[in-house]
Amino acid sequence: MKLNPKFCLTLASAALLSLSACSQAAQVPEKQEQSSKIQQDKSNQGKSQANIKLSGEQANNDSKMVSPMSQKGVHVVADPDSTLVLVNKHFKLPDHYVPRQLVYPNVPFITSQRSEKFKMRKVAADALEKMFAAAKKDGISLAGVSAYRSFALQTVLFNNYARQDGVKKALTYCASPGTSEHETGLAIDVSGTSGMYAATEAFAKTAQAKWLAEHAQNYGFIIRYPKGKEKVTGYEYEAWHIRYVGVQAAKTITKNKLALEEYLRVVPVTK
Ligand code: DAL
Ligand code: ZN
Repeated sequence: MKLNPKFCLTLASAALLSLSACSQAAQVPEKQEQSSKIQQDKSNQGKSQANIKLSGEQANNDSKMVSPMSQKGVHVVADPDSTLVLVNKHFKLPDHYVPRQLVYPNVPFITSQRSEKFKMRKVAADALEKMFAAAKKDGISLAGVSAYRSFALQTVLFNNYARQDGVKKALTYCASPGTSEHETGLAIDVSGTSGMYAATEAFAKTAQAKWLAEHAQNYGFIIRYPKGKEKVTGYEYEAWHIRYVGVQAAKTITKNKLALEEYLRVVPVTK
């Protein structure tokens, strides 16, 4: 079997790093998160796309959503604990952010070795367990590949890819540290239990990928980097990377074939 280099690096990096424990504070209730989404939607109503892309000045006025940082065009998200948090090339997590309530989902992973990268936020872990059980009933065996990544792990990964392919190319498939959804604890890469097509283009053609594309929404997950939305998300199509956003949002996003950026009415990453 030809191993995918991205996948090999993920495993090697995880083994290299000594991973730290996280805080176990109470999570934000779903209702509260939904209400902050509604407030955000209301605040966006009537604004043109250009206005929604926050200038430094607007970000100062709208500190509920983001606060500006010195790096041009990149903002620090104000509510990193929200299940609807947008993390992409324009919106980064606060420095030293560690998600609350990281737990090990009780699902198979492609290796039995325990690692912090198999953790998720509890709300996402619970949903993942339900989803994997439902898939199994449909005859589809799923396994986790890579879930939570600390800033340190994402740094190792990104630097490896940048060395391998150059920074520009690496940025089409790997997020720079601080801007990866994996750092939120709400995202996970999924494959079949053999791990054969883990994180490769070929995964898109598997029964597992097809099942995920159809059913993940029922458990609050979306295919975060859909085919055809590369200019909106800033990343290549990833059939394996699912992101927890809650059932209501996931159903709307999937039904309307939206990227998260479009659902949240934020401008595309590249125009
Ligand atoms: N592969 C996705 C974009 C990440 O590195 O978070
Ligand atoms: Zn991923």
